Amino acid sequence: MVYDIKGKNALVTGGASGIGLWFVKELLKSGANKVFVLYLHTENAGDISKQLNIEYGRECTCFQKVDVSNATQLENAFKTCINWCEQLDIVINNAGVMNDGKWEMEIAININAVVRGTKLAFQYMGKDKGGKGGIVVNLSSILGLQPLAGCPIYVATKHALIGMDRSWGTPFHYNRTGIKVLTMCPGVTDTPLISEAHGLQGDDILGRECQRELDAMPTQSPAHVAQSMMAMITKGETGSVWICEGGQPIYEVEIPDRLTLKRKN
Ligand SMILES: NC(=O)c1ccc[n+]([C@@H]2O[C@H](COP(=O)([O-])OP(=O)(O)OC[C@H]3O[C@@H](n4cnc5c(N)ncnc54)[C@H](O)[C@@H]3O)[C@@H](O)[C@H]2O)c1
Repeated sequence: MVYDIKGKNALVTGGASGIGLWFVKELLKSGANKVFVLYLHTENAGDISKQLNIEYGRECTCFQKVDVSNATQLENAFKTCINWCEQLDIVINNAGVMNDGKWEMEIAININAVVRGTKLAFQYMGKDKGGKGGIVVNLSSILGLQPLAGCPIYVATKHALIGMDRSWGTPFHYNRTGIKVLTMCPGVTDTPLISEAHGLQGDDILGRECQRELDAMPTQSPAHVAQSMMAMITKGETGSVWICEGGQPIYEVEIPDRLTLKRKN
């Protein structure tokens, strides 16, 4: 069944810059009622919020400075969001880093915070908790589906999300909660995460290899990823995993059953 974004309220983490900011804009363009934006590093977040509120209507966004890897801050942000918009319908766990040089922090942001954000979404939106159901989208990557020699731990974090989302995305959970869980796997996208990657992998050899591997892949704009995100939210079934790469139309991935995976020597 087609999901209508019009009139829905959303929460986006890491939404004041990069791909996340484009998600916020596309949600509003698609008729979302209110978007609650969590951000950390963006200095001009206040100006961005003002501009969006002028463009899309009074108080359609609320920006809050939150470190998603801080459990208390993230939980409080969900509470503030519910007070602000009353009902939450869409959660996009977008904040992420590609920084194998600080891998504990990377895991805390890319996995722990996404686990927490997903569980909070279930708590506030689940029909079994008195909510109305909704959509959770977690940002994995094409690197959730393939190795990259230059940043193995980032790759691990993005693989982890696919396993979690496909499990939360089973009918068992959907039938209880009314929440669809979708995974978006963008290819290389033109943001600081990519342009700064070579210096953040912990040593020069890894940094150079990471850069070489990323340079060999097709790139795309964050605007394209955001438009594709709207298409995915509209038509995606729970537990589905989608690739958006090289500016091409988004497509659903079929992950083979493990029993068909035996190598034929
Ligand atoms: N750019 C790509 O090529 C690409 C490809 C596949 C997946 N992704 C994923 O897309 C998501 C967005 O990446 P991007 O390319 O826009 O990167 P980006 O670096 O431009 O933006 C990341 C955002 O996350 C925020 N963030 C980081 N740590 C945070 C924290 N602790 N608390 C709150 N916010 C925090 C940053 O402030 C920023 O707004 C990430 O999860 C990334 O892994 C990106």
